[in-house]
Amino acid sequence: MSGSLVTVPADSKKEIPDGRGTGKESSMKQDAPIGVFDSGVGGLTVVKEIMNALPAESIVYYGDTARVPYGNKSAETITAYSRQIAKFLMTQDVKAIVVACNTISALALETIKAEFEVPFIGVVKPGAKMAAKATQNKRIGIIATEGTISSGIYEKFLKATSPEVEVFGKACPLFVHLAEEGWLNDAVTRQVAERYLAGLKEKQVDTLVLGCTHYPLLRGVIGEVMGEGVTLVNPAYETARELIYVLEEAHLLRNQETVQTPPAHKFYVSDGAEKFRQFANTILPCDHLEVEDVAVKCFE
Ligand code: DGL
Repeated sequence: MSGSLVTVPADSKKEIPDGRGTGKESSMKQDAPIGVFDSGVGGLTVVKEIMNALPAESIVYYGDTARVPYGNKSAETITAYSRQIAKFLMTQDVKAIVVACNTISALALETIKAEFEVPFIGVVKPGAKMAAKATQNKRIGIIATEGTISSGIYEKFLKATSPEVEVFGKACPLFVHLAEEGWLNDAVTRQVAERYLAGLKEKQVDTLVLGCTHYPLLRGVIGEVMGEGVTLVNPAYETARELIYVLEEAHLLRNQETVQTPPAHKFYVSDGAEKFRQFANTILPCDHLEVEDVAVKCFE
């Protein structure tokens, strides 16, 4: 089923929800949802960590399932798609936006975040921070999409914090399709992983960054292939921590002790709502997810 167009004004510039108001106005801003988006199901690995870390917060998710993968597209195309999605999320009155996609974080985040008046949080910086802390032998592998690997962004952030680290990148584009297909523990996935990861094993990395939000879905297979001595880094954990910090700083964090209403989550995709719903139900710690098809092409 293709997405249905929504007819809301494309102007997404809204008053800054800086949370500095008092009383009712302030708690309304705190009660606003957090927007999260990705090219498809991968961002659910980030949603899961946000739900664990911030159980009182509501989430509005957008997965661009009609246009996945982003990993082999140009920065211009990814920026245009991301802008459309961010504009859509703004119509949902989100108080912050988490870019739950490494490729978008690498190629479009800097441009997009300057255009909107809510805080944006990407996944690359938090992932690099975790990897720098985790490595003992200072040899770090990065697996990600072609776009993220060729941007060199992980290496840049890693070298900035730990100049002595050696970084080895490998693009693993088929992992995205295997994750979207739900082949999380399949023999085919294992074969693909063995082929992609052989070079990184030879480099004797002790830390491997799952630098695409789809990849933690395949972490069982990836972990087996890499072997026990290798720490797998999922940037989603640190991203959720970074989100807490950003919301606290802006006085936008919902107070878990005093909230009157439970969180309400909404999921939107650009195609295949039912398939997405079934998949999301197996990943997230809540049942009966509400998923709707919405095309965002009108948000130019
Ligand atoms: N999940 C995304 C990432 O973290 C992109 C995957 C894709 O669409 O190629 O990079």
